[in-house]
Amino acid sequence: LGPVRQNSENDHSPLKLFTHAKTTITGIFKNIASYVNDSNKYLDEVSKSDRNLIADDKHKNIQQLKDKVNRILSVISRDHMKVVFFGRTSNGKSTTVNAMLRERILPVGMGHTTNCFLQIEGTDKAEPYVLTPGSDEPKSVTSLGNVGSALSREKLDSDSLVKILWPKEKCRLIRDDVVLVDSPGIDVSANLDQWIEDHCLDADVFVLVVSAEATITVAEKKFLHNVAQRLSNPNIFILMNRWDATAYEPDEVESVKQQHLDRGLEFLCDELHLCDRKEASEHRMFFISAREALLSRNKDPTASPRTGFNEGYKERLDEFTKFEHEFEECISKTAVQTKFQQHTNRGKEIIALLRDTTANIANKSQTLKQELVQNLTQMDEKNNLLEHELRSMTESAKEKIRHISEDVYKRVAQTLND
Ligand code: GTP
Ligand code: MG
Repeated sequence: LGPVRQNSENDHSPLKLFTHAKTTITGIFKNIASYVNDSNKYLDEVSKSDRNLIADDKHKNIQQLKDKVNRILSVISRDHMKVVFFGRTSNGKSTTVNAMLRERILPVGMGHTTNCFLQIEGTDKAEPYVLTPGSDEPKSVTSLGNVGSALSREKLDSDSLVKILWPKEKCRLIRDDVVLVDSPGIDVSANLDQWIEDHCLDADVFVLVVSAEATITVAEKKFLHNVAQRLSNPNIFILMNRWDATAYEPDEVESVKQQHLDRGLEFLCDELHLCDRKEASEHRMFFISAREALLSRNKDPTASPRTGFNEGYKERLDEFTKFEHEFEECISKTAVQTKFQQHTNRGKEIIALLRDTTANIANKSQTLKQELVQNLTQMDEKNNLLEHELRSMTESAKEKIRHISEDVYKRVAQTLND
């Protein structure tokens, strides 16, 4: 996947697998585009030659490849990795997303806060803006309060999707083409199937945010069962959030953790059959505090005081970092496979079509050449034969004339003698 620069923290991110693959495949398709261009110039000349070397429909197919390749290039430029966060109201979904973005971008709060789907994606512009359903008009947001109020002004139902375009330069995840989708509490929507249909089918990863003070609910399980029916082998992470609450009950930490692990692994491994227990316990379930993670990362020191960490927070911060690493590895691998495999196959088909067409023309012109050489040889042979016949005809004519003239001479002489 090309040379990897070693210096900055950014370069070590597993997400680079995706971004390098994207750069590489873009380069490959640019080469294909110039190959298509050259081939078209050549075929235009060939079709002008009036020798029937290429059928009109084949020629048209190749002419259309230029647009196809440009379309693929534009799809690749928009390809991204997508993660959907879901779970019960107030479990900390929006706080988790903010912690991963290292800034309080999404509104968070007690009670039912997020009232529709919020998709955070990158923009090359310097200022963030919001796009609401049914309108192409960007609404500017300069601060967190603005995101909240831009949303509260709208009458949105829980199925609708609001896009928050966040400057790529402000956030590493977004710069590296990750699109994050926050959802309303799973318990406030009646139509989970519609959610999956509208927002989840192209997701590479699902993150279930559970409150460690409660447990995985029936609604959350049902949602994931439906996801697993629609998508084969979905990538699911379970975050046991609010783990900071255990600081108040230190004696029970291990037993509560074991209880959560047992239930989570039973669900992922025995019910959904997604992976084995070892893999799930090491790579798919994490005990975190999104609140502490956000507190420790939030770049704006006025946004919230750097206090409020509970006993044992360092371990929870490490666990959050570990989750992010596993998540980045998983999402980039999956997205490379699902997105770029199709492009690779398409690229191979285009090259094969061009190769077969030019080889076909080369074969046909070779046959034409052979026929020409054969015709020339036959004409040559005929010429020789004719020449030979002509020569012998001339010889016999000469002989005849000699005979006749001798005869005439004899007769004249005889007549004269008489
Ligand atoms: P909805 O959008 O309403 O579905 O909720 P949500 O899941 O997005 O929850 P949100 O992030 O808004 O958090 C709800 C409340 O829980 C907020 O007051 C957060 O500060 C708090 N909270 C989130 N994560 C944690 C955590 O790890 N520990 C503690 N103690 N509080 C948390
Ligand atoms: Mg929320």
